Amino acid sequence: MSSQKTTTVVIFGASGDLAKRKVLPALQSALSGDEVSGPVRVVGVGRSDLDDESFRARLSADEGTASLAATSGWVRVDYSDTGAYSRLLASEDQAAQVVFYLATPPNVFPAILCGLAEVGLNRKGDPSRRIVVEKPLGHDLESSRELNRLLQETFTEDQIYRIDHYLAKDTVQNVLALRFSNAIFEAIWNRNLVQSVQITAAEEEGIGSRAGYYDQSGAVRDMVQNHVLQLLALVAMEPPTTFDARDIRKAKLELLRAVRPIDPQLAVRGQYRGYLNAEGVSRGSRRETYVAAVLSVENWRWDGVPFFIRTGKALRQRTTQVVIRFRDSPSLRLGGNRQRPIPTLLQIRIQPHEGITLRIGAKRPGTRFEMVPAGLDLEYAGLSGSQLPDAYEHVLTEVLAGVHTVFPSGDEIDRSWEIVAEVIQAWDASGHPELYPPGTWGPEGADELIERLGRSRWLDPADDLTANGSR
Ligand code: BG6
Repeated sequence: MSSQKTTTVVIFGASGDLAKRKVLPALQSALSGDEVSGPVRVVGVGRSDLDDESFRARLSADEGTASLAATSGWVRVDYSDTGAYSRLLASEDQAAQVVFYLATPPNVFPAILCGLAEVGLNRKGDPSRRIVVEKPLGHDLESSRELNRLLQETFTEDQIYRIDHYLAKDTVQNVLALRFSNAIFEAIWNRNLVQSVQITAAEEEGIGSRAGYYDQSGAVRDMVQNHVLQLLALVAMEPPTTFDARDIRKAKLELLRAVRPIDPQLAVRGQYRGYLNAEGVSRGSRRETYVAAVLSVENWRWDGVPFFIRTGKALRQRTTQVVIRFRDSPSLRLGGNRQRPIPTLLQIRIQPHEGITLRIGAKRPGTRFEMVPAGLDLEYAGLSGSQLPDAYEHVLTEVLAGVHTVFPSGDEIDRSWEIVAEVIQAWDASGHPELYPPGTWGPEGADELIERLGRSRWLDPADDLTANGSR
């Protein structure tokens, strides 16, 4: 075993739900691929009264984590006991790289950062020592800045990995490929030809057993501040100088700086009926489980083009997609009648049914001259024939390789909190969400918003883009 390449992954909160469901299985999958070189061992850290043997037994009991068991160990640490962190010093033995993964609730992040610094495990400035954190990264702008300050006190930016698993979805990365490896799209990707953009991130499930977190958070904090704004940034940013993390992050930050903070007057707040009965939801909670809004991107490329976003729980169907609606062609007359133009749409399906459809107008076959909508399709799975990798697996592969492409920077995260700050404040302070029945597409206010400000309507996954008469 070459000591040169050994990596130790120290997982704080390793006996918790996040580690069990996501982090450990994704780590095992990442290690089974050919992109990670060198041996990796796992050190579980937490308050649970486990030891090496019982932790290994837990890992072995689950197919998704069994192959991690042999070289893994457990270190019991009470997070607030700074003296206890010296027990972690052994994790450095022979390790060329050490990754600290915080799979804990965010309220213990400060104690852990402090404890690591106390014993010098952070090795500030050394990129072979890495820290991984994931949302919630703050609750508002102030707490986000505070967390960034703490992280940057202990580690340098090139040691910090802030997870936004949406960025690690293959089809989200494919937005970059679509835009920047096909010159034809870049030429039309602007206010001259784009009429509006819509982004949907809909979920069929309600909040399940997550009331403890969700009722304090809501759809804006849970989805818009991070996933939706990151997706919007990739769709709308300027071409980066290279595909390297530094340039992509720079381009996204520039774009986010041009996004005007969401105006609460131009946002719709919904809550599904039955939310209040979910276990753990506070009595009479006004927390939103749905949000729709229109955003403006105030720069040369996008001035005047509305970006509609919507996301929510307990909706009709799970779907994440981006739809670019291009300007109509002039309508020509035929035999005295104007031909109704068929709007050109580019639908980018992030999940499920991953792929891209360009809806165009075509001539109906036959002797009459008549237009019909038609679709040019790319089915993403068909490209490789294999299953799309799990986003967490991608995240871990990049952490182990020391690459930041799918991680937003601290500045992007702060800026995203600025964009949602006003609407969060307004909704925390007063008003009530519009109720919607579970299994629908959300409050009517959202339909009205897009009709009024976009002269359009939301495109649902069930819509047949090639059917006549669609918007
Ligand atoms: C998480 C949110 O970040 O993303 C969840 O906290 C949400 O509420 C989830 O369900 C959606 O992720 P995905 O990959 O299932 O679209």
